[in-house]
Amino acid sequence: MQGSSAAGSRPAPRPASGRLGVLTPGLGAVATTFMAGTESVRRGLNKPIGSLTQMATIRLGKRTDNRAPLIRDFLPLARLDDLVFGAWDPIPDDALTAARKAGVLEERDIAPVAEFLSGIAPMPAVFDNKYVTRIHGTNVKQGKTKRDLAEQLRQDMRDFKSKHKLDRLVIVWCGSTEIYIKAGPAHATIEQFEKAMERNDEAISPAMLYAWAAIMEGVPYANGAPNLAVDTPALMQLANDRGVPISGKDFKTGQTWMKTVIAPGLKARMLGLVGWYSTNILGNRDGEVLDDPQSFKTKEESKLSVLHSILQPEQYPDLYKDFSHVVRINYYPPRGDNKEGWDNIDIKGWLGYPMQIKVNFLCRDSILAAPIVLDLALLMDFGHRAGLKGIQEWLSFYFKSPMAAPGLQPEHDLFIQQTKLKNTMRHLMGEEQITHLGMEYYAS
Ligand SMILES: NC(=O)c1ccc[n+]([C@@H]2O[C@H](COP(=O)([O-])OP(=O)(O)OC[C@H]3O[C@@H](n4cnc5c(N)ncnc54)[C@H](O)[C@@H]3O)[C@@H](O)[C@H]2O)c1
Repeated sequence: MQGSSAAGSRPAPRPASGRLGVLTPGLGAVATTFMAGTESVRRGLNKPIGSLTQMATIRLGKRTDNRAPLIRDFLPLARLDDLVFGAWDPIPDDALTAARKAGVLEERDIAPVAEFLSGIAPMPAVFDNKYVTRIHGTNVKQGKTKRDLAEQLRQDMRDFKSKHKLDRLVIVWCGSTEIYIKAGPAHATIEQFEKAMERNDEAISPAMLYAWAAIMEGVPYANGAPNLAVDTPALMQLANDRGVPISGKDFKTGQTWMKTVIAPGLKARMLGLVGWYSTNILGNRDGEVLDDPQSFKTKEESKLSVLHSILQPEQYPDLYKDFSHVVRINYYPPRGDNKEGWDNIDIKGWLGYPMQIKVNFLCRDSILAAPIVLDLALLMDFGHRAGLKGIQEWLSFYFKSPMAAPGLQPEHDLFIQQTKLKNTMRHLMGEEQITHLGMEYYAS
């Protein structure tokens, strides 16, 4: 059913025919919570709470038109029944064992989908202890060069697709946070990147190899962790050249999500910020990995950029110049996945009078992240069928540290991101943009 969209300016997205394979590097807390939850929803045992693609509506046309379909009825998305899951992980546990070890879901939610989960065994990972120091896995690929390893990943993708008779694949990185790497000459162009893979250059981490392999196979790639992975000039260029959508970085879940709700509120009211101190305790495997200062540095970079770009101190020096922003993550095993975060926000109002906001968020990390994985898988696949390629800025809504074109300030404000997300959906489906001007309702 190819053709033009209603606006006639761009071809209508290709339909979601056949089945979609969703592959996750990493079969830990987030990936298993996503897979178990999706299966539970498919069986009618639960509702997909937290997923925009499944639960949100989108207004079309004028307010008086009363058109507000569910996003999943408006966009030609893959149906949940058509998703097939696969993963790579250096730890050989199947998804059932991994879900039980992660300790996110209770047995009453795992038991009904136990057989399904036990059928998902991770493929051997491209993994190197140097980049994630706290994990010691045995389910690891061997290869002479990094390029060899990446070629093996490409073969895995092809095999998975043919074994399960899939029409398309999409990849969402749910693996551990790698150590901090700054983009350098090895990431500057695709030629330099490929040479670096061949000489086993340290600047090329496993996550980058998955990203390269995905793009080479024409598979959209979303990065749920803060490490660079696909966020380098070389891989952006490759994704553009090969017509493949990419997005990242770092799922926007607990404390940072809250920041992108509160900070735009302060700025909207022109209230000043003196300092924002965030600390949290968590005890899952992610917390253990982030206990390594090098992995934490990657996460910290991702978390710190948010306030600065929302508040624009250069534009509003009287309100936001030199505010203090501190982020701490403390690994505390008794809490498992049930993170507790505390924020102390020092603000100033009229005549500079100080005020404070305290937030105590008892969240569940993977419960917040799982629907994001689902939405990203469906929307990246949809975007690809709609002819989008390269950085998917419209999906910034889902990320702590959204990728943006070189020289462009990423948008962090959750509400601008939401408008951008929905307007892009309207645009791709040939519907009018909604500007919220609304003067037409009052014209004489
Ligand atoms: N849960 C959240 O709210 C949240 C939010 C933002 C980002 N993230 C990120 O998502 C990722 C997953 O989080 P999680 O809680 O599921 O962690 P987890 O530790 O439970 O799972 C990560 C899995 O990735 C595997 N892994 C590590 N390196 C790999 C590689 N090279 N290839 C394949 N697998 C690899 C590990 O063995 C582990 O099983 C982390 O990077 C985390 O920082 C999570």
